[in-house]
Amino acid sequence: MTEHDGALATSGEAATSIFDETLTTSSRAWSVESPATTVFDFGYTDGRDQLLRLYDKGTRRQWIGSDRLDWDQEVDPGRPIGMPDEAHALFGSPWWDKFDRKQKDLAHREFEAWRLSQFMHGEQGALISVAKIVQTVPNIDSKFYAATQTIDEARHVEVYSRYLHEKIGLVYPINPNLASLLRDTVGDSRWDMTYLGMQVLIEGLALASFGLIRNMAAEPLARAINAYVMQDEARHVMFGRLALRDYYPQLTAAERDEREEFCVDACYRMRDRFMAEEVWERLGLPPDATKWVEESELFHQFRVYLFTRIVPVIRDIGLWGPKIRGAFEDMGVLGFAETDLDAEMAGDEAAAEEFDRQHLAHVEAAAEAVAG
Ligand SMILES: [Fe+2]
Ligand SMILES: [Fe+2]
Repeated sequence: MTEHDGALATSGEAATSIFDETLTTSSRAWSVESPATTVFDFGYTDGRDQLLRLYDKGTRRQWIGSDRLDWDQEVDPGRPIGMPDEAHALFGSPWWDKFDRKQKDLAHREFEAWRLSQFMHGEQGALISVAKIVQTVPNIDSKFYAATQTIDEARHVEVYSRYLHEKIGLVYPINPNLASLLRDTVGDSRWDMTYLGMQVLIEGLALASFGLIRNMAAEPLARAINAYVMQDEARHVMFGRLALRDYYPQLTAAERDEREEFCVDACYRMRDRFMAEEVWERLGLPPDATKWVEESELFHQFRVYLFTRIVPVIRDIGLWGPKIRGAFEDMGVLGFAETDLDAEMAGDEAAAEEFDRQHLAHVEAAAEAVAG
């Protein structure tokens, strides 16, 4: 992958100067078989109020990545994001303890480049999934809403890509486990399975991870990006709750079982297979590093935390049979079922608005300084 493609080449100068091509692969495209039945809905006036209100909100809350974010902010490419040492997956390992400051910073840079690259690839999965939902979902109100979400997801790909290319200068290829989850969700012909896999599970996991950066990072641009993306995602989660909560009671018990099994399998895969092996390999650490991360108590807690946004949604949409509850209990995440989703989303809205206020104050101060 080279620095920018087509419309995303918004400021190529900075990108070419720091971009590290060592992870560039020859494959720039990935094709997934994706069967689908296109459904037209001629019940134009049958829209559900709540979904139409969400569509209205989704349309009004559009934003432009190059305007709302201050891309002129300097980011140290040697230590982007600015997460604390204690939040690093290797913290406390024998290797970490021997690293000097420079090596620790390099470990942060590689880990954050990997993490944000997976966000970016996942967001492209969301973009493709929700475009497919426009095509396959049977209700006109859901098609309307999904259309607004499509542009949200394009913007998310854009802002993560820009940060990675211009500020970090390094992009990791898609992780094979993320690719397999995306293949399962995009490759399913049923609209709700695409929705469940992508919006509830993969983006639910990402949402918790975005929250960590928004709340813990020291670097203001990365914090603002994640706050704004989360503000959009709060609407996406609401869409899933409204659309699936209405749909799942109409399915047979066997059909609901199949969906629960899919969730159980995907949740274990998400918990157990994202160990950032690619990063440890690039840092020249032995294969034991992956095992260490897998067994680390701190990283285990982090992986448990990633389910905070998934579990309450699964319960809310009515996929709450014994199999799924058993799996969540086994994973130690069942308690998250009590999370107040509305309060979480109100918190995400408020956080994004606070970033807007800070940005405005900064712009006004700069204007005053110029005016003298
Ligand atoms: Fe997104
Ligand atoms: Fe989303």
